[in-house]
Amino acid sequence: MKSNLYVFDAYGTLLDVNSAVGQHAAAVGADAARLSELWRAKQLEYSWVYSLIGRYEPFWLLTERALDHALARLPSVDVALKPRLLDAYRNLAAYPEVAEVLAALRARSAGAAMGAAADAGSAQANSDVRTAVLSNGNASMLDAAFSSAGLLPLLDRVISVDAAGVFKTSPKTYELVTEAFNVSPGEVTFVSSNRWDVAGASAFGFRAIWVNRAGLPDEYLDFPPMKTVRDLREI
Ligand code: LAC
Repeated sequence: MKSNLYVFDAYGTLLDVNSAVGQHAAAVGADAARLSELWRAKQLEYSWVYSLIGRYEPFWLLTERALDHALARLPSVDVALKPRLLDAYRNLAAYPEVAEVLAALRARSAGAAMGAAADAGSAQANSDVRTAVLSNGNASMLDAAFSSAGLLPLLDRVISVDAAGVFKTSPKTYELVTEAFNVSPGEVTFVSSNRWDVAGASAFGFRAIWVNRAGLPDEYLDFPPMKTVRDLREI
C-alpha cells in the first residue's frame, strides 16, 4: 500500500541545528564547529539518559543545560554569547529545500484530488498526502521554531513527545503518530537525518527514510531504513 502520511523529525532534519552557532560564528571564534557539535551531542545524551532514568524534562531545558556544558568545556568561547545562541536556537533556520519539498508533497495531494474529481470513484479519492512533525522538542519550542521558519501552513500536525513524557527512541513517542492519525505503523513514512531516530522508527514499524546529508557510514544495522537519501528532495 502506498503511504500517504509523511512524518518528519525536526532538529537536524527540517531545522538546521548548526545554524544557531553558524549565525554567530565570527563572535564564537575558532571553536565554533566544536561548540555546535558538543552542544548537539550533549542535548541528545541528556534526552537518552533522562529517558532511561524515567524522568522527563522539557527538551528546551536540556538544550540550555547542554549549551552550558559545551561553553564550560570550551573556554575560548565567550559565555556572554549564551543568550544570543539560545535565541538563535529558538528561531533556527530551516534547510533550504524544506518549504519546497513540503509544498510539493502537498501539491501532489491536490493533484491527486483534481485527478479524482475528473475520474469520480477512482481510488485516488483517498490519496491526500498529509505532512507532520514528530519531535523531541517541547510544544512551545516547536511552535516558536516552526512559526519563525514559516512552515506551519505546510504541516497538518506538529507533535511533541511532551505527551508521551519520554524521548525518542521510546516506542511511546512514535505511537503518538499512529494515535494522532489513527493509522498503523506501516502506513507512516518517517523521515529523519538522525540515524538513531531512523532505528527507533524502523523498530516501531514505520517506513523510515534516512536523510544522510553528511554521507556518514551506516550504523544500527538491526534497524535499517527503507531508503537512504542525500537531501529531502530525493524522498
Ligand atoms: C528531534 C530531534 C531530537 O526529535 O532531532 O527533533
